[in-house]
Amino acid sequence: MCEPRSHRKSAISTWYSRLIARIYDPFMARMETRVLQKRRRHLLAAIEGTVLEIGAGTGINFPFYPPDVTVIATEPSPAMRSKAEQKLAGAAFPASIQLLPYGVEDKALEVRLPIEGVDAIVCTLVLCTIPDPVAAITQFQRWLKPGGKLIVLEHLVSEKPHLRRLQHLVNPAWKFMAEGCNLNRSTDLLLRQQGFRPDWEQYFTKGMRFYQAIGHFTNQPDSLKSH
Ligand SMILES: C[S@@+](CC[C@H](N)C(=O)[O-])C[C@H]1O[C@@H](n2cnc3c(N)ncnc32)[C@H](O)[C@@H]1O
Repeated sequence: MCEPRSHRKSAISTWYSRLIARIYDPFMARMETRVLQKRRRHLLAAIEGTVLEIGAGTGINFPFYPPDVTVIATEPSPAMRSKAEQKLAGAAFPASIQLLPYGVEDKALEVRLPIEGVDAIVCTLVLCTIPDPVAAITQFQRWLKPGGKLIVLEHLVSEKPHLRRLQHLVNPAWKFMAEGCNLNRSTDLLLRQQGFRPDWEQYFTKGMRFYQAIGHFTNQPDSLKSH
């Protein structure tokens, strides 16, 4: 499939993206087993119907989708996507999973979604990286069926003033090294400002402050069907 223009890169950044994709799972392994895996399992356990996963990365969520769920997973980075493809080829996951090469802002993604919208959108450790999170959240509102669920697991800027200052200070360097990831976003507040209402939510701190939630939008003004 042809790479979306927005994700074409220079040789050096392609090499760097491949390196990040190669070390991502080993780098995250400790954090995954101690902190994240049980939360991913919990967040995805009750999911039903057709699901859109944004920024699937190496496919770390794939084992946690229940059977009978149809997952449209999208991942714009060719290097990360190749790892996810390897996982799909090498294991039988309970859910049916289709992998697409688009970012949330790619028009081609919307065309691949069911016209009636999706039952759930899964976004784990992605809203920290998406360049325009407000535009992405607006798309989520449009792509969800009325009452559809948004499932998020994101790291947040610290509440402690000295850590917060440090995160703001190191963010440019971190962002450069971590392929666009921002340490200093208040994604929970951003979601609420855009009309997200959690049915369940939890904050926890493990090295960084995290937010996990399952919720819906109070305002879904402009659904896919109306286009
Ligand atoms: C830190 S990784 C998280 C991967 C996985 N979701 C997880 O929970 O581990 C962030 C992912 O978001 C993807 N991403 C970055 N910008 C994106 C965009 N505009 N639309 C969709 N995904 C994006 C990256 O390519 C990367 O795979």
